[in-house]
Amino acid sequence: MEGTTKIWRDAEAGVAEAGAMLAAGGIVAFPTETVYGLGADARNPVAVERVFAAKGRPSDNPLIVHIADRSGLEQLTLPAPATALRLMDRHWPGPLTLVLAVRPGAVAARVTAGLDTVAVRMPAHGLARRLIAAAGCPIAAPSANRSGRPSPTTAAHVREDLDGRIDGLLDGGPAGVGLESTVVQVDEGGRIHILRPGGVTSSELAACGPLAEPEPAGSAEDETAAAAPRSPGVKYKHYAPSGAMRLVEGAPDAVRARIQQEVDEAARRGARTGVLAFAEHAAHYRADLVLSCGSLSRLEEAASGLYAALRAFDAQGVTAIWAEAAPRSGIGEALMNRLEKASGQPPLRV
Ligand code: TXA
Ligand code: MG
Repeated sequence: MEGTTKIWRDAEAGVAEAGAMLAAGGIVAFPTETVYGLGADARNPVAVERVFAAKGRPSDNPLIVHIADRSGLEQLTLPAPATALRLMDRHWPGPLTLVLAVRPGAVAARVTAGLDTVAVRMPAHGLARRLIAAAGCPIAAPSANRSGRPSPTTAAHVREDLDGRIDGLLDGGPAGVGLESTVVQVDEGGRIHILRPGGVTSSELAACGPLAEPEPAGSAEDETAAAAPRSPGVKYKHYAPSGAMRLVEGAPDAVRARIQQEVDEAARRGARTGVLAFAEHAAHYRADLVLSCGSLSRLEEAASGLYAALRAFDAQGVTAIWAEAAPRSGIGEALMNRLEKASGQPPLRV
């Protein structure tokens, strides 16, 4: 399925052409304020199928449908509960995805993976909304990475994974948040279930309605599948760097000592070692590759740098990676969720 991918380096100038490509059934990658998405007309089953094929994505994992404004919502969903409307009022456009009752026939069956719900989001990225408006249709868009790779936060990441496999790529510079949107569902009782933590934090959500008890680990987001999941994505391993990754949590000094000890042991066994540390600690480590994804006092920075760092370990052939745990507050919740998925196991507590 290799072909030529048209790349618009002046993204603003490419919007009209890229929109026409989407309307004609093409698949086009574009920046959002979270990560780059790979878009297709959500109503076109052939275009949607091509998105799954390009990514190598399991077909039981549904897609998020992106809209440019609220007028698109009524055609996609049945009337939403009051709490969901409040969440939209407060956080759209923005990094929040709502799982709502789908209007039958509104989108291709593969978009919802046969569920009676559809996930909808209105991105805060101006270019993304102009592209959706230019296409004139709802845009189904998963993250624009090969399944099992970190989500792309730059156009270069998209090219690494998908060049030649997609029709177009709008290069709009680096994405903002760097982690995918928060995915929520409101139940009959008006409680907000967080299916995937993300750019909108749990305290921001709690201001719009009561939060349900947290879902068991590994619920909504994951792509490279094994057995039949209870809900989409359960049981998938995700965001995995090629090297084995260990996440270590505890008092900073104990974390540092434990990581260095394990790095030294692994190096003696011949591993190519990597450490992902906060800027405040990075200089203390000795390893083949030490990366800082940002300061502890600015977790937003760490969030936006995480996926690029994971890709850098891969590119450098690092075979064993250790990562410092992040504080679990604010965007740190989403950051820890992605780190846990990347390492494929709960953190080692020291
Ligand atoms: O920030 C984002 O959300 C990015 C950008 C491109 O918008 N998109 C993204 O899409 O992360 P994707 O496909 O990588 O993740 C979609 C998530 C998955 O966890 C999927 O299981 C969940 O949304 N999802 C989609 N439809 C759902 C539904 N009907 N019910 C429950 N979960 C759903
Ligand atoms: Mg994804």
